[in-house]
Formats: sequence, structure tokens, C-alpha cells
Amino acid sequence: MKVLVVGANGKIGHQVVTMLEESNTHSVRAFVRKEEQAEELKQKGIEAHLGNLEGSVSDLGEAVKGVDAVVFSAGSGGSTGADKTLLIDLDGAVKVIEAAQNVGVDRFILVSAFGANNRESWIGNEDMAPYYVAKHYADKALEQSNLDYTIVRPGGLLDEPAKDKIKVAENLEVSESDEGTVPREDVAKVIVASLDNEKTYRKAFDLVSGEQAIEEALNQL
Ligand SMILES: NC(=O)c1ccc[n+]([C@@H]2O[C@H](COP(=O)([O-])OP(=O)(O)OC[C@H]3O[C@@H](n4cnc5c(N)ncnc54)[C@H](OP(=O)(O)O)[C@@H]3O)[C@@H](O)[C@H]2O)c1
Repeated sequence: MKVLVVGANGKIGHQVVTMLEESNTHSVRAFVRKEEQAEELKQKGIEAHLGNLEGSVSDLGEAVKGVDAVVFSAGSGGSTGADKTLLIDLDGAVKVIEAAQNVGVDRFILVSAFGANNRESWIGNEDMAPYYVAKHYADKALEQSNLDYTIVRPGGLLDEPAKDKIKVAENLEVSESDEGTVPREDVAKVIVASLDNEKTYRKAFDLVSGEQAIEEALNQL
């Protein structure tokens, strides 16, 4: 599959780009927002598309045209306010979903967040509520689309090497004090392994570190 990675300069996105570039079965187009990021990718022989999630659906459509799948792992990050959370995590994601539908790209993998499907989990958490609301409604838009979607809701992200052992479920039971964590590298591996695994199509699932091999866990969804 040829895959557009939106958020390609991010911590997960970068790892997805590298894995796809090294794969024998996939190829990649990296969506980045800065000229220097695009240049750096091109120098490594990686196709780059310069764009911005605050742009129009038709401009985003140009990025999506000609690929078989979209991976969306962008996010406004913790250093910006709720305004950017709304513009990137919610509207940015929904615009790319619309762009994919407009140009006929059916496969779409969205990185959401653990708890985004459960309103009760953010009630009373004023700081985080806008983030979870944005993720919740972006996920809903994708679920209500006709796309072959996969929504991955990882727990707390770690900058550690992959453990290659995960736990996934449509609703993972975890204690309030420990929502579970997962290395970003494992999230990237789950994304790449999901691309052509039909067991993950039209599914949304929680993801934390666990005891199962990635392929085995995904096949049980
Ligand atoms: N932190 C956690 O524990 C946690 C847990 C669960 C889920 N998540 C979610 O996981 C996802 C990926 O995480 P991560 O750590 O890989 O995030 P990250 O490193 O912050 O990457 C996000 C990427 O989005 C890009 N981006 C932001 N605004 C953009 C715009 N207007 N146009 C184009 N690109 C834009 C950024 O570009 P630049 O590089 O140019 O800034 C960045 O590369 C995020 O959606 C995050 O919310 C996080």
C-alpha cells in the first residue's frame, strides 16, 4: 500500500514513516508543514508533501490523492491551547477524513487517545476535557464515515524501545490510577501491522503494553 502519514514529523509519525520506508510491501508519502522538514525527507529519498492541517479540504485532498491509505497521527501537542486542539485534533482530522472520502481513499487509521470513547473519564478534568472532546468527535466522524477505518486509542505514550507485547480491546478495563502505557514504537508497529489486516477494519480499540504479540492481538479483534 502507498500510505500518506499525516503528522510525519511527530514522534509516532516519524517511526511509522521509517517502518513504511523500510518495508517491502508499503511505500510512504510524508505530510509535513515546514519546508525544512520536507527537504530533510527528500534528501533521504522519502516522498514529502508540504501542507497544513489548518488549510482547506481541497488542499488536503491534493495530499491524499494517489495513496491507498491514510495514517493520521498529528496533534496540536501539550504546549498550545484549546483553540489549536480544536483546529488540529478535531477539525484537522475531520478535514482529512473528508478529503479521503472526496478522492476515494478508503483506508484510514486514526491515532486517538485512551479514554476518548468514554465521557465519564474526563468529566471534572477541566484541563484535559477539550483534548478528549476533540479526540471523541474526530473518532465519531470517522466511525460514521463509509471508510475502512481503524481507530487506535493508546494509553500514556513512552519514548522507550518497543516491547513487541501489547494488550488491545474495544474497551480495556484498567484501574483509575493506572490507565496503562505503551512505547510509541509499539504504537507505530500496531499502525503498520493494521494497514492490511482486515480484522482491524471498522474497529476502534484501546492499546497498552501487555502480553500478546502484535499480530496475534490484532487478529483477535
Ligand atoms: N502523549 C500521550 O501520552 C498520548 C496518549 C495517547 C494519544 N496521544 C496522541 O497520539 C498522537 C501522536 O502523538 P506523538 O507523540 O507522535 O505527537 P507529536 O510528536 O506531538 O506529533 C504531532 C505532529 O502533528 C503535527 N502537526 C501539528 N499541527 C499541525 C498542522 N497544523 N499541520 C500539519 N501537521 C501538524 C506536528 O508537526 P511539527 O512537527 O511541525 O510540530 C507533529 O509532527 C497525537 O494525536 C496525541 O494526541 C498522545
